[in-house]
Amino acid sequence: MSKLEKTLSIIKPDAVQRNLDNEIKEIFKNNGFRIINEKKIQIEKSEAEKFYKVHETKPFYNDLCSYLSSGPIVVMILEKEGAVKANREIMGSTNPKDAAEGTIRKKFGISIDKNSVHGSDSIDNAKIEIDFFFKD
Ligand code: CMP
Repeated sequence: MSKLEKTLSIIKPDAVQRNLDNEIKEIFKNNGFRIINEKKIQIEKSEAEKFYKVHETKPFYNDLCSYLSSGPIVVMILEKEGAVKANREIMGSTNPKDAAEGTIRKKFGISIDKNSVHGSDSIDNAKIEIDFFFKD
């Protein structure tokens, strides 16, 4: 059996703006995740730049950071056995066009930028991303 893990999930501006946050939270809960902390916030572009620093050399970095800071987001700590991988499965592929049926991005994603949710891609990054938003 996998270990109990925590991962960071963000409901992005496109989904919050369409009032999909509760529906997305229900999907996580129905799939066995526990939301152990959550907050609705809007971040500055400079904070988005720090959060997405791993992508700073990518051509889409500037637009990505403008977008994440363009409206309210919901950041959550999700807990479940094997949470990092399980979250990536339930989110689906980065590009909603490639996402499998039944995944959050297939259901709600609009484009590769407006893909409704973010999730940590590894256990190490989950720790870093959780600290980024919840270390006070
Ligand atoms: P996310 O999981 O939040 O991590 C980085 C984000 O960059 C990704 O989701 C996408 O929304 C966005 N992005 C925009 N263009 C690309 C691209 N070409 N490849 C990967 N991610 C992209």
